[in-house]
Amino acid sequence: MRFHRPVTEGIEVRQFELGDAGEVYAAVERNRQYLREWLPWVDQTHGPDQVRDFILRSLAQFHANEGPSAGIWIDGGFAGSIGCHRIDWANRSCSIGYWIDAARQRRGVITHCCDVLLAYLFGELGLHRVVIQCGVGNLRSCAVPQRLGFTREGVARGAEWVNDRWVDLLVWSMLADEWRRAAGG
Ligand SMILES: CC(C)(COP(=O)(O)OP(=O)(O)OC[C@H]1O[C@@H](n2cnc3c(N)ncnc32)[C@H](O)[C@@H]1OP(=O)(O)O)[C@@H](O)C(=O)NCCC(=O)NCCS
Repeated sequence: MRFHRPVTEGIEVRQFELGDAGEVYAAVERNRQYLREWLPWVDQTHGPDQVRDFILRSLAQFHANEGPSAGIWIDGGFAGSIGCHRIDWANRSCSIGYWIDAARQRRGVITHCCDVLLAYLFGELGLHRVVIQCGVGNLRSCAVPQRLGFTREGVARGAEWVNDRWVDLLVWSMLADEWRRAAGG
């Protein structure tokens, strides 16, 4: 059971494989300043070996049926990432995260990729709840769940250490029946 889905023309999402490490690291390197503002793992990523370790962990998570971590590929080139944190099967819930190459922003790619991931999580895996958490000042990130019709639940105060500061996280959620209604089902 592979996680590999078409998104829109020329765009696809696919579970990371070990051979992706070099290309993913090159994208992290080229976007380092932009990504590090909100993603705590960027400052701990100093070479392709650390990306390889991440991919190994994400493959183990995927094979344990705890959700995919996928690359976003545009016309065959690596453009960003979207994936699940470990699924909580007792509550059929998980949170998702994403990032995209700065040069590929503002075209709806992440919103479309989230649509595809939500269809997989709700429609195929039968999850009950999906969460997106984003830094209170991360307006572009918070616009994604808002655009997707998620409900804003509140603020988790000082919930994430990013580089040199505690960040308050806005918590957004969608439930399966809301997704079904939005998807017209
Ligand atoms: C957060 C992040 C993924 C948002 O990227 P993004 O490009 O704004 O999101 P999308 O790909 O969904 O694009 C939305 C934009 O495309 C536009 N757009 C164009 N066509 C669209 C379409 N068919 N559907 C939806 N949006 C469309 C939207 O209007 C919006 O533009 P606007 O901001 O000018 O209104 C990106 O800024 C990023 O990677 N940041 C650094 C890492 C990060 O913060 N990750 C999240 C941690 S919680």
